[in-house]
Amino acid sequence: MINSSNKLKTKLVKPKILYYGTPVVLLTTLNEDESVNISPISSSWGLGNCIVLGLGLGGKAIENLKSHPECVINLPSPSLWQNVEKLAPFTGKNPVPDYKIANGFTYEKDKYTASQLTPEESLSVKPTRILECPIQIEAKVMDIRIPDYYPNFGIIETQAKHVHAHENLVLNENHIDPEKWSPLIYNFRHYFGLGNELGKTYRAET
Ligand SMILES: Cc1cc2nc3c(=O)[nH]c(=O)nc-3n(C[C@H](O)[C@H](O)[C@H](O)COP(=O)(O)O)c2cc1C
Repeated sequence: MINSSNKLKTKLVKPKILYYGTPVVLLTTLNEDESVNISPISSSWGLGNCIVLGLGLGGKAIENLKSHPECVINLPSPSLWQNVEKLAPFTGKNPVPDYKIANGFTYEKDKYTASQLTPEESLSVKPTRILECPIQIEAKVMDIRIPDYYPNFGIIETQAKHVHAHENLVLNENHIDPEKWSPLIYNFRHYFGLGNELGKTYRAET
């Protein structure tokens, strides 16, 4: 039945962005000289072993993934939001593209020092993991597609190879304890943690 109630009225809006609340990822990729770049992103989703990322074509991350198809998908906790924000005005791309200069970006090569985060060797990929991030997923790039209807972004399909988790989050060997893990959420350009648990799905194993 069509809703005719006055209580849930909607309004047409034209938001500039559609960042409706997804986890922040600190994506580590390999630079041409084998140093490591860190890119904060929030466009990602996972299904099975596949994690799909959305990356702007003007950034360093996609350039690095094209030349070296490996990355680590590091998931920061809410307590790391200021480290993430320290990276926000930087790009590893040199020279900085004009549209990024217009948005206040400057070039920074040493993103670990800039964010006060610590590199840790990975098991199966060259880019390092970020020690402070409670979940670190080593992944290989399987495909990069640029939609012809919107050629500013790349859709990167990756396959997870190894998942590392801080010990205090691990429950029964292979589960992440959802009571202990909280992603850092990027909600219309503001940072949030999770609120209290509401319940669980019928398929939850913990
Ligand atoms: C919290 C946060 C989320 C972001 N999400 C994305 C994203 O999903 N995709 C993207 O391309 N850029 C995103 N950005 C902007 C990138 O961080 C920016 O393009 C930066 O240039 C990436 O670094 P790089 O050029 O060294 O790869 C986000 C920035 C912040 C602070």
